Amino acid sequence: MILQLPPLSLYVHIPWCVQKCPYCDFNSHGQHGELPQQQYIDALLADLQADLAYVQDRKIHTIFIGGGTPSLFDASQIQRLLDGARALIPFEDDIEITMEANPGTLEHDDFSAYRAAGVTRLSIGVQSFSKDKLNLLGRIHNEDEAKIAAQKAKQANYLSFNLDLMHGLPNQSFAEAMHDIDTATALAPPHLSWYQLTIEPNTLFHSKPPQLPDDENLWQIYEQGQKKLAELGYEQYEISAYAKPGFQCRHNLNYWQFGDYLGVGCGAHGKITLPHDNRIIRTVKIKHPKGYLAAQNYTFETADVIEEDRPLEYLMNRLRLMTPIAKTEFEQRTGQSADVIKVGMQKSIERGLLTETDTHWQLTPKGHMFVNDLLSQFI
Ligand SMILES: C[S@@+](CC[C@H](N)C(=O)[O-])C[C@H]1O[C@@H](n2cnc3c(N)ncnc32)[C@H](O)[C@@H]1O
Ligand code: SF4
Repeated sequence: MILQLPPLSLYVHIPWCVQKCPYCDFNSHGQHGELPQQQYIDALLADLQADLAYVQDRKIHTIFIGGGTPSLFDASQIQRLLDGARALIPFEDDIEITMEANPGTLEHDDFSAYRAAGVTRLSIGVQSFSKDKLNLLGRIHNEDEAKIAAQKAKQANYLSFNLDLMHGLPNQSFAEAMHDIDTATALAPPHLSWYQLTIEPNTLFHSKPPQLPDDENLWQIYEQGQKKLAELGYEQYEISAYAKPGFQCRHNLNYWQFGDYLGVGCGAHGKITLPHDNRIIRTVKIKHPKGYLAAQNYTFETADVIEEDRPLEYLMNRLRLMTPIAKTEFEQRTGQSADVIKVGMQKSIERGLLTETDTHWQLTPKGHMFVNDLLSQFI
């Protein structure tokens, strides 16, 4: 089997926030003084230029400008980034370009200015509509600003927008979690990311853990929340992602289908297929803004996804999605015959986690709940 070139996405990391949230372990830093916007965009473009050999004649399929809080950057700088990227690598005609925005940075630049700069999709970090929860989460916005942000995204003619919501928040009751879903869906976002709060190492919540809802409460929130979203026409297509038909996030779909992506910016990860050398590599860029801005050479580390790890890596991503897995996709993305995982998949079929046809595998409802058991066959 020969590896085939998958679609190529681009992830751009902007590492600053107004202040650090106590639950967040992303590579983000509280802002101190003026941001070096001009210098950072220059560095991002030089970083992208250094990755050009990985493009291999492809056009860019999707871009995700994440963080951090990219909406702290002026729209004129985002425009410079997108114009510069397009000059280096052609974009697909219907490219999806998502930018993360924080409702508390609305005054910084109007959402319509980012739209004019070329962003097609906004992802707004709402988290909750409860004043008390927003305070506990250390957010810089209030519930009204979250609603205004969603309305502004609608008025600014984005092709789609997403709201990030979290559940299982400190002391959150079932009714409070349902109220958040009701308020979010009343704003009619085409896409909703609904994450359960996790306590990550190296966060303030880890050193001073808040009181979280108990397991029974968490399960009730999850089960009823899913049901509510389905009734409202939001299809769950990934563990935490829900969308109206036709509004799935194409950038994230490419990650989960084991597609390729260039990663530029502080600490950004990339994954690249090199069919001629039968290699899949991962790249990581310099993590800290100071080191990154001073760099002459941006790539910090490059590692191969060795052949024996490819089936597990593919499945770890692909099993997040609800859709059936084409055996041909497995073969094209890993460069290996589907027979390589036959025995492990067969065991999962016998345990009721999976069904199989000549061409596809599909997780059963039980399989979705025990994905880690299935994956353990391939470790
Ligand atoms: C990279 S963050 C950036 C979003 C943007 N900076 C903001 O916070 O408004 C993307 C999303 O991940 C989610 N998230 C971050 N930390 C989390 C955690 N510990 N548990 C669950 N979800 C988390 C939040 O919903 C957040 O909006
Ligand atoms: S604003 Fe977003 S990226 Fe920044 S610290 Fe908070 S959750 Fe993390």
